[in-house]
Amino acid sequence: MSKVAVMGYGTVGSGVVEVLTTNAQSISMRAGEEVEVKYVLDLRDFPGSPVENKLVKDFNVIVNDAEVDIVVETMGGLHPAYEFVKASLEAGKSVCTSNKELVAAYGAELLEIARDNNINFLFEASVGGGIPIIRPLKSSLTADEIEEITGILNGTTNYILTKMRDNGSAFEEVLKEAQELGYAERNPEADVEGYDACRKIAILTSLAYGKQVDFEDIYTEGITAITAEDFLYAKAIGTTIKLVGTSKIVNGKVVAMVAPVLISADSPLYSVDDVFNGIYVRGNMLGDVMFYGKGAGKLPTASAVVADVVEAVKHKGTNIMTIWSKDKQELVDFSEAAHRFFVRINNSEGIAEKVEKLFGAVKTIDIGIADEYAFVTDEMTESAFADKQAEVSGVISRIRFAD
Ligand code: HSE
Repeated sequence: MSKVAVMGYGTVGSGVVEVLTTNAQSISMRAGEEVEVKYVLDLRDFPGSPVENKLVKDFNVIVNDAEVDIVVETMGGLHPAYEFVKASLEAGKSVCTSNKELVAAYGAELLEIARDNNINFLFEASVGGGIPIIRPLKSSLTADEIEEITGILNGTTNYILTKMRDNGSAFEEVLKEAQELGYAERNPEADVEGYDACRKIAILTSLAYGKQVDFEDIYTEGITAITAEDFLYAKAIGTTIKLVGTSKIVNGKVVAMVAPVLISADSPLYSVDDVFNGIYVRGNMLGDVMFYGKGAGKLPTASAVVADVVEAVKHKGTNIMTIWSKDKQELVDFSEAAHRFFVRINNSEGIAEKVEKLFGAVKTIDIGIADEYAFVTDEMTESAFADKQAEVSGVISRIRFAD
């Protein structure tokens, strides 16, 4: 029998206990032995809950109990999650986590400790919630060289953008509604500013290329400046707006960013709506593959954590090799990254000539909003675009194309 300690009895942690209880029989059949929760670590009390008698408040109880062979970390945040996970691994216990902040910041180090101790550090739930994406990158797609990963990696912002598009509402209005429905946090910064998606694409890129991608190196722009009018233009040109995390190989180098982009209707990501996530991967042999499903939520996320628990039980005494070294993965300086840009501009005297001089003979997009029009540039680098934008006054907004 395998004994598990769950650290953090919040949404995901309680989901882990629920999944292990509800599917106990099939899980033990697949793991090859019974899997039992021995401890739940939380500073709070949960009187009347199914884990009432398993609650502990002191991490040392877990780390010093030789019977515990797997630790689930669903506390979130960096500290003390990092210290507890590191100590668990050093004590010879495999760790399964849903914590993307922890994995993005310390993944390479924690994987190395797991390797040295012949145990496992597993983190399927850290990206895409219940969607299998980490294990495919680690095993099913290893025959390929990954040319691109582009994902709608954040359910909260995808929900907000979908409602803005469908209802013609403003960002603030939909955010408030999403908070009331529990789809957005009271402090929504990590989601709406793109920080959450940034950590997720950093993890996927580290796994794809085997080196540490520092999330601080990834250009990150959120969705707070997107307006209902932007969606009207997007629709008029056969596109929609999605927040994506993307990394791709361009001229042999890795280019990465998180930003709202215009996605055309023929992209597999175009119809990924509401709280769903979609992750598109292109391999040099396989071609395109797409992963789609619930990227957040109690049971989908817990399902991925428990699948890691089963994996850890099946591989007791064996480290599943994961290529993610501490060596830094260099990214292309973002000013050199190239995109096509959609631009809205105030329609003032002489502006068309100025735009033509700077951007060439662009096609004007007029959807009947007074005193403005829009156009799409050819592909150009970020720095070239910034230089031209500085020369023309009256730019209302600009959004990159996904291609
Ligand atoms: N806040 C995240 C999201 C939760 O909305 O996708 C899952 O990581």
